[in-house]
Formats: sequence, C-alpha cells, structure tokens
Amino acid sequence: MISSAFAATPALMPLPVTVRPATGKLTLDATFKAALVSAPDARLDAAIGRFVVRLSRQTGIPMLGLKEATPKLRIECARPGSDYPTLGEDESYTLDVTPEGALLKAPTRAGALHGLETFAQLVTLTQDGFVVPSVHIEDNPRFPWRGLMMDSARHWMPLEVVKRNLDAMAAVKLNVFHWHLSEDQGFRVESKRFPMLHQEGSDGLFYTQDDIRGVVAYARDRGIRVVPEFDIPGHTQAWLVGYPELGTNPGPYEIGRKWGVYENVLDPSREETYAFLDAFFEEMTALFPDPYFHIGGDEVVAKQWNASARVQAFAKQNNLKDAHAIQAYFNQRVQKLLTRRGKILIGWDEVLHPDLPKDIVVQSWRGQKSLADAATQGYRGILSFGYYLDHLSTAAFHYAVDPLSGDADRLAPAEKARILGGEMCMWAEYTTSEMVDSRIWPRAAAVAERLWSPAATRDVDSMYARMEAVSRGLEWTGVQHRANYAPMLERMTGGRPTEPLRVLADAVEGLGLGPRARAGKYTSLTPMNRLADAARPESESVRALELAAAKVVADPKGSPTEAALLRREFARWAANDARFQELAAESPLLMELKPLSRDLAALGDAGLKLLDALEKGQPPAAAFVAGQTKEITRMEKPAAELNLAATRPVKLLLKAGK
Ligand code: ACM
Repeated sequence: MISSAFAATPALMPLPVTVRPATGKLTLDATFKAALVSAPDARLDAAIGRFVVRLSRQTGIPMLGLKEATPKLRIECARPGSDYPTLGEDESYTLDVTPEGALLKAPTRAGALHGLETFAQLVTLTQDGFVVPSVHIEDNPRFPWRGLMMDSARHWMPLEVVKRNLDAMAAVKLNVFHWHLSEDQGFRVESKRFPMLHQEGSDGLFYTQDDIRGVVAYARDRGIRVVPEFDIPGHTQAWLVGYPELGTNPGPYEIGRKWGVYENVLDPSREETYAFLDAFFEEMTALFPDPYFHIGGDEVVAKQWNASARVQAFAKQNNLKDAHAIQAYFNQRVQKLLTRRGKILIGWDEVLHPDLPKDIVVQSWRGQKSLADAATQGYRGILSFGYYLDHLSTAAFHYAVDPLSGDADRLAPAEKARILGGEMCMWAEYTTSEMVDSRIWPRAAAVAERLWSPAATRDVDSMYARMEAVSRGLEWTGVQHRANYAPMLERMTGGRPTEPLRVLADAVEGLGLGPRARAGKYTSLTPMNRLADAARPESESVRALELAAAKVVADPKGSPTEAALLRREFARWAANDARFQELAAESPLLMELKPLSRDLAALGDAGLKLLDALEKGQPPAAAFVAGQTKEITRMEKPAAELNLAATRPVKLLLKAGK
C-alpha cells in the first residue's frame, strides 16, 4: 500500500503490487541517460530510446544521451523472452530508485517495457525541478489478457489513430489489441486474394497489408499482441457487396450506412462458403502472427436461414435443429480451417457450444454468466461485459467490474483459472477518429488497473485521483483525448471565442450508445460535430465540485477552500448564460444548447443560495427546496444527448438543506 508519506508523490496506474517509498529523489536533467546493462537486445534498446524521447517531451528537458554521462536508469533484462508477445509470459519487473540512480530489473523484455512505463509515471515536478522519488517497486499482473478492442469498421480509424492508442495502451500495461476489422459498414483490410472485399466494401478506407504488418510490428515492439477480428457469419454485409454469392440471400448488397443489427448473413449450407473462408484465412492468418484469431460470431439473425429452403434442407440433412445449431456447425467448420493454420478460435459468447473443442476462447459481452458457464464447461474466457467504453459510463462503474466476481464467485479455483482477463470494447457507431481517444482515455486506465493490480485495489477516490493525473501524462504518448477538446469546441462557435461554450461543455457529459441509438437517426453519414460528440464521458471539474460539496455539507464552517471553489464555479455558471445566448445566436450548432445553458445558470444561482444558507447555519426555505428539487429532477433528463452533470453538486447541497 501507498503510505501517507508517499501521498504527495506521482500517480501510478495500474497501481503496482508493492510500492515501498524511501527518502530522497533522483533529479532529472539534461544528463539523464537510460541504458540496457544486460545482454544486447536491439528491440529493447529501441524501446529505451523511445522512452527517453518521451521523457524529454514530458519534462521539456533535452536528453541527448551524452557520451560522458553515466546512465541514471539502468535496465537489466535476464532474457529477451519471446520474439512476439505471448499470452501468459512473465511480465514482472522490479524498480529501485535512489538519489544516485535507478535500476529496473525484469526476467523478460515484457517486464522491462512495463517498468519503463512505471518510471515515466513516477516523474513529478517539485521545487527542485523534475524528479523521481526514491522507491522500491515489485510488480506483476493479476491477469495475462488485458485488452482493448477498437472498431475500425463502423467509423474509419486511420493508422495514426491506431498507433497512438497502442502507445497509450502500453503506458497502462495493456497487452492485447483486439482489432475489429470488418462489419456491415466496412471491410477494412486489403485482400489480394479477394480484392472486391476492400474495393467494394470500404469506400476506399482500408488498411493495406503493409499497414497491417506495420501495426503488428508497432504493437509487438510495445509488448502488445494484435488479435484480428473478422466477424462472421453475421455483421458481414460489407463482404457481400463484392461477393454476393456468399450471402444466404442473392443480393445485390450495399455497404451498410445505418447502425444496428443487420439480417444479412453468410450462407452456411454451401461448400463454396467454406472454400472462400479457407482461402481468406490463408491470406489473413499470414498477416497476423498471434495464435488467436477472432471470428466474431455475435448477433446472428436467424431470419434468412429460417426462410431459406436451401439452408433448411441442409439443416435437416445435418440434424441441426435451429439457428444456434446451424451456427455451431458453421463455427466447427471454421474452427477446423483455423486449426489447420495453427490458430486458436476466439469468438463472442454466442459461439459457446459443447460441440466446439475446449481450446477455443469465449469473450463474454452479454453478461458475466456466459463467462462463468464457459469456465464451468472447460473453456477459457475473457470478460467484456461491463467494459463497454462506448456506453460512456463512469470510470467508477467499469472499475467495479471484476472478471472474477459476480457469476464467477461460484467457480472452483481450476475454473477461475480459465478466466484469462478482460477486454474493453470501443465500438465506433457514435465515435469518429477525431474523438475516439476521448472515449477511450482516461477511463481505460481504470480498467487497465482492474486487470493488472491486486483485486483488493478498489478505492474509488484513489482511482480517480490517480486517473486524472495519469490522464495528463497520457498526453505525452500522443493520444489526443484532451488535445482535441478545444478545436472541437472552436468548430462549433465558427471561430468565435469559445469561453461561454467551454463553461457549458465542462458541466455536461456525453451520452453513450444506448440513448443515442434510441434517438434513432444516426447513420455513418451523420455529422459528428455537436456538443454531444465533443463533451467528455465524465466531467472532471464537476467531480471536483461534488467532492467539495460533500465536504462543505459535512463541515460547513471547516471547509473554506471547498466553499470558495463552489462559489466561484456557481457564479461562473450563473453569469455564463447571457454570453452563451449571444454566442448561440450566431451558430446553428449551438442552438440546441440554449435551454441547457439556462439550466446551468439556474443551477449556479441555486448553488449560491444554498451555500449562503449552509454558511449561515440556516436551512433554506422549504418552498425553495421543493421548487429546486423539482427543477433538478427535470434537468436530470438528458437534453441534446447530454447529461447536465452540474446538477450533482447542487443536489448534494440541496439534500443537506432538507
Ligand atoms: C457485441 O457487442 N455485439 C459483441
């Protein structure tokens, strides 16, 4: 545990297993040098080089690796480990920092990479400049499979977006990049064998095979495995544009533009389908060295299979009693094709079926029960239910989800051991490449901690405090989760000063997939330029106000700093509306926000009155409390696909006044 003496030191996330602070600190300056002191390892050397460049950016200190300087960070790696990151390999490391220098020791390259990231998180600004506090750290992960799934198919994610997110993943010790590469709305990989897949199915937005090899190497160098997903037999409309003969229905087909689940599915009754997939896998498995190959398998709509005389005759002939049995047959065929190429099948939880061999991996997305069921039946599994970043839930919500709790409680130790970890899902219906970083970070860091740190690491306030600090540190990896905010707001004001919009934007939170899907009007051609797109999933400034409000309520006279913070912010809200309405009159993108801005001003006024009452020790008038309670209840309903987060601190004060 971190002792209070360490509390002023930098934020580590995931929290290491053991952190033992010591006295003193290592000062960082232009003589800083990091060096591998064990057997030469070109790949680790390159990683150390990148690490120093990032440290230099993070601190603004030139770090040229001067010849005459002695290394301040020495890295000892017992053996390189596997050439490509391997599930279950030793990822441990120890890090000792003293005023004289730091020593990072790891059994393999994987651990050394993690230790470098911990060192970067330790860097903090003090009166003496940038330092790393003296410390002894011992660390290793709780789960071997710690992933992020990115959907490059619904909205296109350019190569640089993928790469910068790989850098951020490495920074929080995630080790699996699950790449969702095909969908109804797009087939995103160049196929030389079946060129109509990407030519007809992608609007010209696809990764070349060189791009793919580049990403795999980029990820590998950062200790990250790449698991490709080609979702079959559903979610395949974009395949069928170029190859309609693969479909159950004859077509013709178009690239999907709407979101939601489509009825078009591959034809499981024709040998030609399997011959196609065989040749397709031959090409794609050669691009991806990871032994695991994801075939999706989710949300297969039975309608076309049920309506097709050919599929029904086939089902009868093969004793397949329903669509689930047909899909299980299809999966068995696919599994054999993959096994022939040395690959292990992984699929969404719908693939779970006793006819499949026990080496497949099940990815639970519809609940934790399917993960427990899989483990009971002898399958290995990973958890994604509860880790859907596109729902824009709070970090606290995701943080509370543990792969080994809930339904997994009932499992025997040997069954629990089959649960390999988890993966976050970043589906891209309501996310473009511009804002995707802000939908992943910083919340993904909280899940990274759940998957890495000991199960007992659960304190939510500590998590938020560290996550907010780590969020700033992540900027140095290149992700733009913070950097893209200002330009997105500027676009909405047409270049006019954004301050009144910024005040509102900081006080709201964007809605996730569920409510936006229910709004029902989105396609891949819908502009994504509203405040609902720019706003953060979780407002950091409102959270600070909630913490302050809780303190003021607990101790109205003893919390002057918190009261002053609340007063300043409430006054800002109250004064903001006049300026906002003026700005909104000039921009069509701001029109829908006018009522929200008025509500924010009203919350500011109410908050100031409640603070006055609390500080005077007089309860607010009953009629005022009743009126405000009703108003806040109204404001809690989303508007313009936003939540007015600002209600929360005011509600805390209001409750205290009751
Ligand atoms: C899924 O979210 N359809 C796997």
